[in-house]
Amino acid sequence: MSILVTGGSGYIGSHTLIELINKGYRDLISVDNYSNSNVSTYERVEKITGVVVKHYPIDLTDQNSCKLLFEQEKIESIIHFAAFKSVPESLANPLLYYRNNLDSLINLLECCQIFSCHKFIFSSSCSVYGNSEELPVTEKSSLGIPESPYAQTKFIGEGILADTVKAHQLLKVIILRYFNPVGAHESGLNGEPASARPNNLVPFITQTAAGLKDKLQIFGGDYNTKDGTCVRDYIHVSDIAEAHILALNYLEKMDKPIDIFNLGTGNGVTVLEVVKSFEQVNKLTLNYEIVDRREGDVEAVYANNSKAYKLLGWQPKFGLEEMMLSAWKWQLYLYEGN
Ligand code: NAD
Ligand code: UD1
Repeated sequence: MSILVTGGSGYIGSHTLIELINKGYRDLISVDNYSNSNVSTYERVEKITGVVVKHYPIDLTDQNSCKLLFEQEKIESIIHFAAFKSVPESLANPLLYYRNNLDSLINLLECCQIFSCHKFIFSSSCSVYGNSEELPVTEKSSLGIPESPYAQTKFIGEGILADTVKAHQLLKVIILRYFNPVGAHESGLNGEPASARPNNLVPFITQTAAGLKDKLQIFGGDYNTKDGTCVRDYIHVSDIAEAHILALNYLEKMDKPIDIFNLGTGNGVTVLEVVKSFEQVNKLTLNYEIVDRREGDVEAVYANNSKAYKLLGWQPKFGLEEMMLSAWKWQLYLYEGN
């Protein structure tokens, strides 16, 4: 019986494969359509773990391909990472996001019903909280108005899962709301793939430091925060990965059909603080400018993570400095032509 990791050649998926292998899991199957990653990720996973992960090139929006996979493999649980994730791109092309993120989820859930797969972990996002009035946000905080089509796909995805468990009684679902995953594997051999899609803050910081970008643009210096820049809860990708193994274990004993967990450190950090930390730990100076606000951004969001601690036994191990050090180590590895 296998664990299916969708989007396994992507950023969080590949770190989760590494963590699963490190914890002794071997019956793993990864699928990806490489729309935002490359098949060579599996070589990096192999280099770090010594294990070859079985993988298929599959577009999850294609129901026939999904069914063929489930016919071929005995899948017991699914960790569903595959999705598009750029807020600005989703604003420019909302239908692309609704089609990709929601069709993939629906196809997988239909396969769960047809092929009796009962365990499902879903990658959601703190973006479902929108501009929350309550900080830090708990899983019980009311959900705000999603600020982008991307955030909408996560909000609707959570709703689809809540409805599906009501009708499909054996299905158990854990929704993980990630805050801002950053950093790279401590070896420096795996990190966020160099992407064709518009990117997040930390890859832009490392690309600027490497001279691949002229200048980092900081979006908005007039927010109601301590230095005027947005506040987020940056969390090391390996900590996020570990939470999936704990969630898989928790699914075995969970006494309700669906549960939700925040995955953040609990620390709200401004964009300028991230930049300063990067400069300090890597002994570099970054060229940056403060520009207009970016559409779709919320002012501040950070997590109350005590539920994940209490029920999953999850506690982040890495701080901001380790996130910045590993991100730079990974950028150097890429820069050297790997
Ligand atoms: P990523 O883009 O690195 O990985 C996603 C992978 O899914 C990619 O390899 C991509 O090629 C693949 N994919 C996309 N659509 C697909 C499809 N239709 N069929 C098959 N494969 C497909 O992104 P990530 O950072 O690893 O994010 C993983 C999940 O976590 C996503 O659902 C994302 O929305 C969510 N999330 C990410 C962040 C973040 O900041 N990285 C924050 C919160 C939530
Ligand atoms: C958003 C979502 C997150 C989601 C992720 C996927 C929110 C609160 N969070 O993260 O849940 O899954 O997208 O991509 O909606 N910034 C700059 N300059 C840059 C890039 C970013 O200043 O070049 C700033 C942004 O304005 C923001 C912070 O850095 O304040 C983080 O941005 P980013 O890394 O893009 O992630 P979010 O948009 O917070």
